[in-house]
Amino acid sequence: MENRTKENQDDSRQITWHPMDITRERREELLGQKAATIWFTGLSGSGKSTLANAFEQQLAAMGKHTMLLDGDNVRFGLNRDLGFSKEDRVENIRRIAEVAKLMNDAGLIVLTSFISPFREERQAAREIIGASFIEVYVSTPLEECERRDVKGLYRAARKGEIAEFTGITSAYEIPLQPELTIDTSIGSVADSVREMTAALGHILR
Ligand code: ADX
Repeated sequence: MENRTKENQDDSRQITWHPMDITRERREELLGQKAATIWFTGLSGSGKSTLANAFEQQLAAMGKHTMLLDGDNVRFGLNRDLGFSKEDRVENIRRIAEVAKLMNDAGLIVLTSFISPFREERQAAREIIGASFIEVYVSTPLEECERRDVKGLYRAARKGEIAEFTGITSAYEIPLQPELTIDTSIGSVADSVREMTAALGHILR
């Protein structure tokens, strides 16, 4: 909430930020945890959702209160009006970052699973969410994602049936300084979860 103080008055839209008595810190205290957003980024089929799902199970086993926001699922509801043009992907990520921030304010540990292909948008998400933003780059190579082709989308994209498909006809900009990088073509899901727990455990006390 602190980073809202600069903009606590918007005269052009006649809106004022109201400070509330129950703060994020108080909610975190009640839940006995520190809120964070674990932002998974990577190609379609790289294993983002599988990893997010498995790591959420690990967090639940540790007694943590969590929420998972998943690209495909959110596009059925909140973002059903958005497609895959650059403009729509930017708006997709902006909304998710704002939702994740609200959930962090509620004290929850949020896991997000979106391709989020553009560096600038991930940076914008980092700025919206603040210090509790943890970027996890799921770096599984394109060849492996395409070999898996779980949803048959790469085959369709290669045939020209899907426009602006990430990795084929639309860019994926590799993160330059992610907090963590995981390649799911090496080792099992359990190995990746162990790696994440070791790397992030101290942040998620
Ligand atoms: S993002 O680029 O805006 O972050 P998001 O993660 O929400 O993408 O959605 C990606 C999912 O939408 C993919 O896993 C895939 O199932 C589906 N999809 C459909 N069309 C496309 C496309 N043109 N590019 C990428 N993914 C697509």
